[in-house]
Amino acid sequence: MNPPVRAAVLASPEYPFTPVDAPIKLDQNESSLDLPDALKAQVLEQLQALTWNRYPDLNGEALSAAIGAHDGWPAAGTVAVTGSNMLIALLVQLAGMGARVLTVKPNFALYALDAKLWGAELIEVPLGPSFATDVDALIAQIEAGREALAGRVGPAGVIFVPRPHAPTGSLCALSDIERLAQASQGWLLVVDEAYHQFAGPSAMDIARRHEHVVLLRTFSKAWGLAGARLGYALTSEVVARQLRKLVAPFAVSVFQSVCAHVALAHPQFMHDRVAATIAERERVFKALQAHPTWKVLPSAANFLLIRTPDAAQAYASLLSGGVLVRKQDSYFGLQGCIRVTIGTREENDAFLRAAGLSAA
Ligand SMILES: Cc1ncc(COP(=O)(O)O)c(C=O)c1O
Repeated sequence: MNPPVRAAVLASPEYPFTPVDAPIKLDQNESSLDLPDALKAQVLEQLQALTWNRYPDLNGEALSAAIGAHDGWPAAGTVAVTGSNMLIALLVQLAGMGARVLTVKPNFALYALDAKLWGAELIEVPLGPSFATDVDALIAQIEAGREALAGRVGPAGVIFVPRPHAPTGSLCALSDIERLAQASQGWLLVVDEAYHQFAGPSAMDIARRHEHVVLLRTFSKAWGLAGARLGYALTSEVVARQLRKLVAPFAVSVFQSVCAHVALAHPQFMHDRVAATIAERERVFKALQAHPTWKVLPSAANFLLIRTPDAAQAYASLLSGGVLVRKQDSYFGLQGCIRVTIGTREENDAFLRAAGLSAA
């Protein structure tokens, strides 16, 4: 007999991830490098001096101020929670429940999973050639929805556009995001910038000009703090005030907060690592051109998508060489695809060797 839970939850699959052990782990788009030792020591020292028996800030006010100061965004429009994963669910609850979630496909799995869990109608627009985000088709969906939603009270829903796109690494032009922002009144437009540091200018200026735009960011990728679990939204004060109502009180722990404060006070390590990752991404991209059967896609993120004749076979043969990557062939349009995270130079060389290529 089913447990007494909502039908939408019963019908939803679990998050598609199985942990696998391997000497070289390039499967989750994390940073291969831990927080520098000196900064880790500072975190531990600050944690030692803090009281753990008291609740932290109600809404992570000090943390929002530090993030806002670093990113150039007002604290009042900054909402930090346990990972941007959590924010995806909260944004669906904020504007998508009983309404729509509009996104692209393939996409980061959580947009669709959360749409189902929270009872939103899911509309997925296939990516265009070269995995480009088809903004015209997204706008057409918005227009088509206008009539269907006419007379209805409440938001039309929430739009998720990852930029760079995950899991392909393609980059939607800022001019297209601007067009989407102009066309999406009545919706929340979420630009998921989990990988923005690897991609050049962000959509920040667009978000400044449009109240309904939300930027999603994370400490899990460029900052190398996936284990700390911290993500945040940058948006207008009016949207942030409503979003905060959905965040559980005292949601950001002292550990998360201290990690972020220390990292934000020493951003140079992050900038250096991002530069190294971009250089490595281009080196690995070039080396992969020599593969007889694989086709690598250009990427603006810290990973590369590769189309192979057989994803399961490519995955298994890399794993037997000690390198763990992610199969992506179950996603729409990604037959044969695997995804590899850009690691350190040594890790990337091991990946290229396991792929039968010489490391240039
Ligand atoms: C596009 C995208 N958004 C959000 C996330 C979630 O990040 P977080 O670790 O902050 O929950 C990921 C993680 O892989 C991602 O790829």
